[in-house]
Amino acid sequence: MMPRPPDRTEFQILADRAISRRRFVAGGTAAFVASALPPGTATASSRFEFEPVATNTRDTVTVPTGYRWHVVARWGDPLWSDGVPFDPQTRGTGASQERAIGDNNDGMALFRSGGRNILAVNNEYVNLDIICGNRASGKPETADDLRKTKAAHGVSVMEIAQANGRWGVVTDSPFNRRITAETPMAITGPARGHALLRTEADPGGIRAKGTWNNCGNGRTPWGTYLACEENFNVYFASSDDSFERPAALKRYGIHMKDRYGYGWARGDERFDIAKHPNEPNRAGYIVEIDPLRPDSTPKKRTALGRFKHENAELVIAESGRVVVYMGDDERGEFLYRFVSDGLYVEGGDNSDLLDSGRLFAAKFDDDMTGRWIELTPAATGMNSQAEICIHTRLAASAVGATTMDRPEWVAAHPKKAEIYCALTNNKHRGKKPNKGGDPTPVGGPNPREANRYGQIVRWAPDGGDHESDRFRWNLYVLAGNPAVHLDAYAGSKNIDAGNMFSSPDGLAFDSNGLLWIQTDGNYKNKSDFAGMGNNQMLIGNPETGEIRRFLVGPRECEVTGTAWSADRKTLFVGIQHPGERGGSSHFPGGGDTVPRSSIVAITRDDGGEIG
Ligand code: FEO
Ligand code: CA
Ligand code: CA
Repeated sequence: MMPRPPDRTEFQILADRAISRRRFVAGGTAAFVASALPPGTATASSRFEFEPVATNTRDTVTVPTGYRWHVVARWGDPLWSDGVPFDPQTRGTGASQERAIGDNNDGMALFRSGGRNILAVNNEYVNLDIICGNRASGKPETADDLRKTKAAHGVSVMEIAQANGRWGVVTDSPFNRRITAETPMAITGPARGHALLRTEADPGGIRAKGTWNNCGNGRTPWGTYLACEENFNVYFASSDDSFERPAALKRYGIHMKDRYGYGWARGDERFDIAKHPNEPNRAGYIVEIDPLRPDSTPKKRTALGRFKHENAELVIAESGRVVVYMGDDERGEFLYRFVSDGLYVEGGDNSDLLDSGRLFAAKFDDDMTGRWIELTPAATGMNSQAEICIHTRLAASAVGATTMDRPEWVAAHPKKAEIYCALTNNKHRGKKPNKGGDPTPVGGPNPREANRYGQIVRWAPDGGDHESDRFRWNLYVLAGNPAVHLDAYAGSKNIDAGNMFSSPDGLAFDSNGLLWIQTDGNYKNKSDFAGMGNNQMLIGNPETGEIRRFLVGPRECEVTGTAWSADRKTLFVGIQHPGERGGSSHFPGGGDTVPRSSIVAITRDDGGEIG
């Protein structure tokens, strides 16, 4: 069971929210912070078999002595021999991008079929300045630019193979597939056909076009891939300044203006909310994809709710029901759980398990317990389960769920019922309500005002049963900078100058029960972030609290996405948006090449297993 007696005792400090708030706001937080976890630097008993990597600001991937890495795949690499190699002058065309790996690889999973390896990877978004770096504006200017940026989103499915120790893409594999913002997909589950999903192009509300901004991922034991739609909102805009946005569109961050300059609303009417106000309701879901059937239709599983999905961590409860944990990555939004009605049967037909079940939002109490509140019409005052699945944020607000510091990836311990979630940061904590007006008080698992470094919360369901509606929680780590701060922003006791980081984001457990932590933090390496260097990946020992840095990424990147080879001898890691601010990165090509998001493979020099 999770919280060991010392943790629990120390965490009683949080039971009095007033005290914890006073301490945090006043900055006199050392007592709490120091006791957030037991001592975590017990090198004598360390389970880590490597020397920690020091922070740096180099434009490369740095791994520990005894490990090596190589590039497997990059944005723009063609998946078929009729594609064209990446052209740094044009940065590709619509046609070439449709036959090539998308941009900004994020969550991923490796599947096996007859001894072959099929990697599915999300292409979350594009770096406009880079992909349109051939345009003076650094933005899409032509219809083909729009086609290109849409094609660079979505999911890439590719067979990969290892030869002479190096992994690479199998060009023309029958498994290779691109799923983009144009790919036809089905809408399934409770919201299928609901009036809020009906549009001129799809009067039945049953068929969507495309997926975009797929951030983290999930995978199911029946062999499918889950792509999670996150910041789907920023692609919509209004051509009519007098258009009155319904409250729900505002809650979901659908703006009147094209804030990032994607230009999709200008070039493709379905992204124009003045003309098609229901179109945004058809995005923000989890999409289930069969990676071994390139002709299969992806399915938007509305039963899992609609919000800015980060990832989907799926476990099978003792009953056989499927339990999916999911975060909504927005300041002051919520953490969710889905429990299927049907039971998982190994080798059986599990294809529609994600279409019916119960959806819950988490409420954390300061006494270190919490509960899952079911989102039903009775509890939320909403008209139907379909409406709850579309306006999930509104439903969770109605039941008083706990506003969180941007829930990112959730990861379930492989050997016990214990779940971890990265709460990446939240500058509005204690200062501003969320977009629904829900207060965001300092306290509970979100204990620092204007939280700039993030933390990882963990919880254990009562009785070790993922279906239990009650749980106990504590904080695994509070990230911070002890070289700059002495207060709460120094971080918890298991953070020191040698392992500090900010904004935990990607989380994944390896088969040994160690937690891999990837960061999407501020990489300016000064003031609050002095000494932290580029974004990184660390490994945490859940039992001792020890955290050790394993990898540092290139400049201006985020490290996101993990997958292990079947023999556990290769760890695939995503390097997303190197050089996103322009100029300082040429990863992975070096010289003066265009920086390209990449998937890298990490192996041990001695050929041993990694996790
Ligand atoms: Fe796409 Fe919440 O990170
Ligand atoms: Ca993320
Ligand atoms: Ca993030």
